[in-house]
Amino acid sequence: MIDIHCHILPGLDDGPESLDESLDLCRAAAADGVTCIVATPHYKPGTFEFTGPRIIEAVNALMAAIQNIGLDIRILPGAEVTVSPEMAANLKMGGHLTLNHGRYFLAEFSPLSVPAGWDTFLLSFLDAGLTPIIAHPERNAWFVNHPDALAAAVQSGVKLQITAMSLTGEFGFESRDYAIHLLKQNLVHVIASDGHSADFRPPKLSEAVRLAADVVGRQQAEALVTANPLAIIEGRPLPAMEPTQQAPPTKTQSTNWFNRLRNFTFAATT
Ligand SMILES: [Fe+2]
Repeated sequence: MIDIHCHILPGLDDGPESLDESLDLCRAAAADGVTCIVATPHYKPGTFEFTGPRIIEAVNALMAAIQNIGLDIRILPGAEVTVSPEMAANLKMGGHLTLNHGRYFLAEFSPLSVPAGWDTFLLSFLDAGLTPIIAHPERNAWFVNHPDALAAAVQSGVKLQITAMSLTGEFGFESRDYAIHLLKQNLVHVIASDGHSADFRPPKLSEAVRLAADVVGRQQAEALVTANPLAIIEGRPLPAMEPTQQAPPTKTQSTNWFNRLRNFTFAATT
């Protein structure tokens, strides 16, 4: 499996703080069946910033450590770019903020809202040859409440990545139900871990594939962690997908205050 969204590099964002913690994350991913990870530290002007040489240096250092311990896993450079006005100036084809220096980039919105004109803004990157992939829309309250707008953006060329732990329910029932809804609509292009640590946010794609298979079938579920992410890191077009109409998920009202609190806590942490 190929994981195109993982905070695997130490010391660059809210992922691992040390090389040892990064290696723990690599071990967990390898044990789950992952053979390639795109390192996607947050890039958020004023909060998390890094240069091209800095991320290459970090990827090379981690690869050397991985080879030292004999793990069969490859790390590629990338980023998770916070949607902001500065994006247009910072993102370039082949630059350090795209996935494996290619045409695809991972776009992250804040958990609760999206800026006005978000769709036009993202779609404008297509004219420059860049393809936006929205990171975990199922964890954004605005997208959850505006499924038609998200579907329309996908019809126009935006791609979607959902998070494995959303399918397992660990981000709450609302994110889980919306992730399943997006799968049913045939709008999901890739499942990724968004792993941050081996303990708190572990990379576990295989369990998500099993759950996705119940919705879209085994072959399509596996493509979301194999063929599709391979196309992304090689800069090739993704297979055409025919969206289907589905009624939005019924809002489940949890009476469990702990689940509500957990949902809020996870949502507030990207
Ligand atoms: Fe992330």
